[in-house]
Amino acid sequence: MKLLDIHLTRIQIEPTNRCNARCVICRRTHWNREIGDLSLENFKKILDKLPKTERLHLQGQGEPLLNADLDIMVRLARQSGMSVGLSTNASLLNKSKATKLFAAGINRLNFSIDTLDPELFQKTRPGPQLDRILQNIEVTVLERERQGIADLHLSVTVVGKPSTIHSLPDVVNWAASLKMDSVLLQNVNYDFQYDRTINDRILEMDIPKYNEYTAIAQRIAEKKGLKLLLPSLTSEKNIQCGWPYQGCNITWDGYITLCCLQPDPDIYRFGNIFQEGFEEIWNNKLYRQFRKSFAKGTAVLCSKCPALYGNMWHHSETPVRNQN
Ligand SMILES: C[S@@+](CC[C@H](N)C(=O)[O-])C[C@H]1O[C@@H](n2cnc3c(N)ncnc32)[C@H](O)[C@@H]1O
Ligand code: SF4
Repeated sequence: MKLLDIHLTRIQIEPTNRCNARCVICRRTHWNREIGDLSLENFKKILDKLPKTERLHLQGQGEPLLNADLDIMVRLARQSGMSVGLSTNASLLNKSKATKLFAAGINRLNFSIDTLDPELFQKTRPGPQLDRILQNIEVTVLERERQGIADLHLSVTVVGKPSTIHSLPDVVNWAASLKMDSVLLQNVNYDFQYDRTINDRILEMDIPKYNEYTAIAQRIAEKKGLKLLLPSLTSEKNIQCGWPYQGCNITWDGYITLCCLQPDPDIYRFGNIFQEGFEEIWNNKLYRQFRKSFAKGTAVLCSKCPALYGNMWHHSETPVRNQN
């Protein structure tokens, strides 16, 4: 397939894998990857090499706002025709940074908040202070309102952990009171090869408790007119995933990995965009072999995917490592 024939619907580019938090469930807290920032020069190189792409998520395994050129990256991606969004822990957000992102044309901002309980927050997301984060988010939401920006989706992403799931109704209530657009509860991606004890803790989720809190949250959302997106909990393969054919993840140092849930190039990577053309990597032997096994439903790399299987507690074999 030639570059002109490739049409990506979504791509994730990592502005940095530095972070000012050490969230217990986050893979970057447990891995030993080299730490660094994507330079503006390298970001431009990536944009130049990419085929037509609809949506860019400017985020990876780190806090995007730590990259000082973030708003310039947003602007450049918007100029090349992409819709652009990112997730942030919001600890570094303030009126001035929000205004720069708005002016650059950002389309989606997701704030990561799992609980409004400061003690629990510190236990699960050690680092930045919750009261500061909430203040930063409120300033940002108000600024959107003040500037009358219509084309900007503001949402909260909650990770469905056993220790914090009871907080979901409060988070939904808070998000609705700020007139956010949506709250997304997402499954834990617990496929850690870094710290097996995390998997064990995540496996403790009590399903009736989960159902109870999501039902309360759903009622609040309906009453207040907020969109609440809940994950599926079946253990059967229940959705179609487009990543192998429609997008990929690119790390700050240029490695192309399968998707946002398989972002660690030390586990699996298809190539490096600073060393080869995108088309070459997209059509190489590793990608072709992978797509074949994916189509048959035997791709080991996807065997524990919480998006594909919609289940936080599904277990299977550990994916193989490759060192391409
Ligand atoms: C890796 S973070 C990077 C962006 C930013 N630092 C943040 O926290 O939003 C992106 C999202 O992944 C979520 N996340 C972290 N570890 C996860 C895991 N094991 N399973 C599912 N989501 C996770 C975070 O809560 C956040 O919403
Ligand atoms: S703030 Fe984001 S990148 Fe940083 S440790 Fe937490 S989830 Fe991971």
